[in-house]
Amino acid sequence: MDGKEQNRPGELRDLKTPLFSLRGVSKRFCSVTAVDILKKVDFDIYEGESVAVVGASGTGKSTFLNILGTLDFPDEGELLFRGSNILGMEADRLSSFRNKNIGFVFQFHHLLRGFTAMENVSLPCRIRKMSRKNSIAASQSILEKVGMGHRLHHRAEDLSGGEQQRVALARALVLKPDILLADEPTGNLDIKNSLQVHSLLAGLNRELGMTLMVVTHNIELAGMMDRKVTIKEYRVVDASIDVMGIKP
Ligand SMILES: Nc1ncnc2c1ncn2[C@@H]1O[C@H](COP(=O)(O)OP(=O)(O)O)[C@@H](O)[C@H]1O
Ligand SMILES: [Mg+2]
Repeated sequence: MDGKEQNRPGELRDLKTPLFSLRGVSKRFCSVTAVDILKKVDFDIYEGESVAVVGASGTGKSTFLNILGTLDFPDEGELLFRGSNILGMEADRLSSFRNKNIGFVFQFHHLLRGFTAMENVSLPCRIRKMSRKNSIAASQSILEKVGMGHRLHHRAEDLSGGEQQRVALARALVLKPDILLADEPTGNLDIKNSLQVHSLLAGLNRELGMTLMVVTHNIELAGMMDRKVTIKEYRVVDASIDVMGIKP
């Protein structure tokens, strides 16, 4: 049975307009020397899609993800959200756009020490000015979904690495973002915990239709995504060639 087709509300999705698009995006870092990362990149990701970004270290995967997530900015080009350019927004509006529409997970969990799982997950809700009651209800519900319902009041530092990453995932998802961007989310986990996070991510995409873009070196995780892309000669291309041993 293909849960993906069955569970996604396909008829409600706008299949013509991409959720996010990069148009003519170029990015160069200038430190000691100028380093070109992206040149005139066009890229689309549609609602409900899952994309793995694969390839060698230093090729610009994180930069690409950060530009799509508005954490970094291109030198030229446009970033469209449902067809509208969002790069012209003022800083405050862009922060609130990010808070509302984009969830991030990184290799390191970045949870606040001294705060409980529930408090960490509630933080985006409080920034959004949700009531305390609604924040708690949303946080508890998503923590239960990622299998952390039994650790709501544990402090971040008292959780295992895998548990911390699941709390970070819950924090990224608590406001029901349109897209989840994950940068090597299991790069710091052992095999058992990686597998748990992989199946959570794949389940979110299949069962909830969560749009997902994941930078990963993990062959198994990349294999769970609808398509794989890589950065080659400053362009984002289909990883149809064998990249780092990952075959399409
Ligand atoms: N802020 C920065 N200033 C200068 N160079 C940077 C900066 N961020 C990344 N780079 C360089 O850009 C290249 C791509 O980085 P990154 O996007 O992190 O690659 P990846 O995620 O594929 O490992 C690397 O060579 C890195 O050293
Ligand atoms: Mg990186």
